[in-house]
Amino acid sequence: MRKTRYAQGLTNPNSLVKSTEELKYIEQACRIVADVLALLEKYVKPGVETIELDKIAEDYILSHNALPAFKGYKVENKIYKHTLCISIDEEVVHGIPGERILKEGEIVSLDCGVNKDGYFGDSAVTYPVGEISEEKKRLLQVTQEALECAIEVAVEGNKVYDISRAIQTLVEENGFSVNRELVGHGIGKKLHEEPPIPNFVPPLLARKQYPNMKLLSNMTLAIEPMVNMGNYKVLTKSDGWTVVTADGKPSAHFEHTIVVTKDKAVVLTYR
Ligand code: MF3
Ligand code: CO
Repeated sequence: MRKTRYAQGLTNPNSLVKSTEELKYIEQACRIVADVLALLEKYVKPGVETIELDKIAEDYILSHNALPAFKGYKVENKIYKHTLCISIDEEVVHGIPGERILKEGEIVSLDCGVNKDGYFGDSAVTYPVGEISEEKKRLLQVTQEALECAIEVAVEGNKVYDISRAIQTLVEENGFSVNRELVGHGIGKKLHEEPPIPNFVPPLLARKQYPNMKLLSNMTLAIEPMVNMGNYKVLTKSDGWTVVTADGKPSAHFEHTIVVTKDKAVVLTYR
């Protein structure tokens, strides 16, 4: 998500801890999200129009008595009109489904959010379209691995920056760069809750923007590394949504909604 939406530092971490009852609802929303992304893998092929993927996702969600969480989502007076964000190659996130046709060799990120009975789940995956280059394969592997490393440290007693550091370290060791403009987030009763979860350790002067909150058991978090093959800098296209890399090189995005526990986080959007 975009990083500017929080009233920072005012939230009591205890208020972000979910009850067993709430977790059951969040889990149901997450199950639908994960099933949508798994279903879409079969449709990601050269020749498919991205709006067709959006339609498949929307139909699936509605037929499971849930709502697409992004559709109708407002940011600065703009309303998002689709179920998925679909971002191809140099598009980082928030690409808008439309008439663009997937081509062999591209990578496509599918980001899906679901509102089920007032509770939310959010997950993203980047799939290859047909056969892709070795460098793109490595980008997908590293981004996925960064998410796994982040999930490993999302345990009670650790802090938000432990997640950030795990992502940044793994990505930079592999010669890629992490996004500085967009962050992961708390989730559950809303699509975006506190705390923001940056994919990099904020420099000293930026730390007020990102409270290094202690993680508590039964907090629900959406962790979402966005990794650029080249430079970390990004731009927003004139459509007002699509975030692209400034250098035009590819970018990948993986996201899971998880529950913090004492030892190993539970991945609710596991596919
Ligand atoms: N998963 C995205 C995020 O957390 C949600 C997209 S917001 C929308 O930023 F407005 F594009 F729907
Ligand atoms: Co998200």
